[in-house]
Amino acid sequence: MQILQGKNIVLGITGGIAAYKMPELVRRLIDQGANVRVVMTDSAKAFITPLTLQAVSGNSVSDTLLDTEAERAMGHIELAKWADLLLIAPASANTIANIAHGLASDLLGTLVLATNATIAAAPAMNQQMWHAEVTQENIQKLANRNIHIWGPAQGEQACGDVGFGRLIEVPEIVEHVCSLYQEKNLANQHWVITAGPTREAIDPVRYISNHSSGKMGYAIAQAAVNAGAKVTLISGPVNLSKPASVDLINVTSAEQMHQQAMIHANGADVFVACAAVADYRVAEIATQKIKKTADNQQMQINLVKNPDIVADVAAQKNKPFTVGFAAETQDVEQYALDKLKRKNLDLIAANNVALSGQGFNSDKNALTVFSTSSQQEIILMNKSDVAKKLVTIIAEQMDEKV
Ligand code: CTP
Repeated sequence: MQILQGKNIVLGITGGIAAYKMPELVRRLIDQGANVRVVMTDSAKAFITPLTLQAVSGNSVSDTLLDTEAERAMGHIELAKWADLLLIAPASANTIANIAHGLASDLLGTLVLATNATIAAAPAMNQQMWHAEVTQENIQKLANRNIHIWGPAQGEQACGDVGFGRLIEVPEIVEHVCSLYQEKNLANQHWVITAGPTREAIDPVRYISNHSSGKMGYAIAQAAVNAGAKVTLISGPVNLSKPASVDLINVTSAEQMHQQAMIHANGADVFVACAAVADYRVAEIATQKIKKTADNQQMQINLVKNPDIVADVAAQKNKPFTVGFAAETQDVEQYALDKLKRKNLDLIAANNVALSGQGFNSDKNALTVFSTSSQQEIILMNKSDVAKKLVTIIAEQMDEKV
C-alpha cells in the first residue's frame, strides 16, 4: 500500500520563488496516494498560477477567505476539518510571522487556527531574513506549538546570496511527510551513526582528508529517525543540513570522532560506522604554517595510526549491534568478510567504489550486506532509498540475533 493512501493534505503555498516547485510536490504527494488541495496566499499567485496547481492537484484552488463561491464549494472550516496534514511550503518569513502571532487575516492563517490537523512548514527566504532574530523567535514559537519545521537548506539563493534559507528539495519534503505516517518499528531504540570524512590537521591551515560527502550516513540517520529511533549522528565536516529530529555532534578529526563514538555508543542499540575515517593522522601538527624553502624539493610528513572507531565500539562488553562499511575497489566480498570478522561486526555493507555513478560523493549507491551467514543485495538507487532498505535489513538481523 502507498504510505499516504487516503491521507488528505492541504498544501499552503506562500510568496517565494520556490513556489514554482510546488506542482512537482503536489504530483509526488499524489504518487504516494495522498489527496491534495491547494491554498494560495496573494503573494504566492505572483509566482505561480492557481490554474497550474488546480491542474496537477485535480481540485480547485482556494485563495480567498471571503469568497461566496469558494465557501459554497468547500468552506474554510470544512477544509480545516478535511485535512490530516496542513503543509505550508514554501513558508515565507511573513507567513511564519503571521502564524506565530495567531493572525487570521487570510485563508491560510485562518486554517492554521481552525484545524486539528498536523501542521508542518518548510521555510524559504533570503538567508539574512532567516537569521533575523525575530524570524528565529517566530520559528521557535511555531516549534513550541508542535508545528514541524522542515529545513531550510543551505546553498545558493535566487537573490545571489549563499547560506541557509533555501527550500529543502521536493523529495525531502515528501520523505518528511511519509515519515509522519510510517510505522515506527524502531521506537525505543537508540542508534549512533558516524558519517562524512575526518580531517587530520598538518598545520593551522592544511589538513589530510578524503572525498566522503556524508550523504549515505545522513540518509541512514534520517531513515532510522523516520522509523522511530532516537538517533545520534557523529559527523565529520560536510556540506549537508542537519536531518530533522537527529542529535547532531560535529567533529573534525578521527580522534574526536572516536571519543564521541565511545561515549554515545555505550548502551546504544545500534552503531553504524559510515564515516570515511582517516586511517592515519599527522604525528606532530605544526603550530605555525609550514613554509616552503628554496632548496627543499621534497618534504616528509610522519603519520601515526588512528584508533579504529568501529572495532573499538565492537570490542565493548555490551556492544551495540554493530554495522560497518567496506568501500573497496576489488575483491569486494573477500575484503568485506575479512573486515566483518577482524572488527567483530554484526553486519558489513560493502560497495565497489571503482564503479562510476555510485558511492563516494554520489547521490546513488548499491550495497551488498554481509553477515557471517547471509548476504543481501541492495541494487543501485538513491541513497535515501538505499538507507531505508539498509535500516530494514539491520532491524531484521537484530530480530534474528535475539
Ligand atoms: N573505520 C573506523 N575507524 C577507522 C577506520 C575505519 O570506524 N579508523 C570504519 C569505517 O567507518 C567503516 C569500516 O571501518 O565502517 C571500514 O573502513 P576501512 O577504512 O575500509 O577499513 P580498514 O580496516 O581501514 O581497511 P583498509 O585495509 O581498506 O584500509
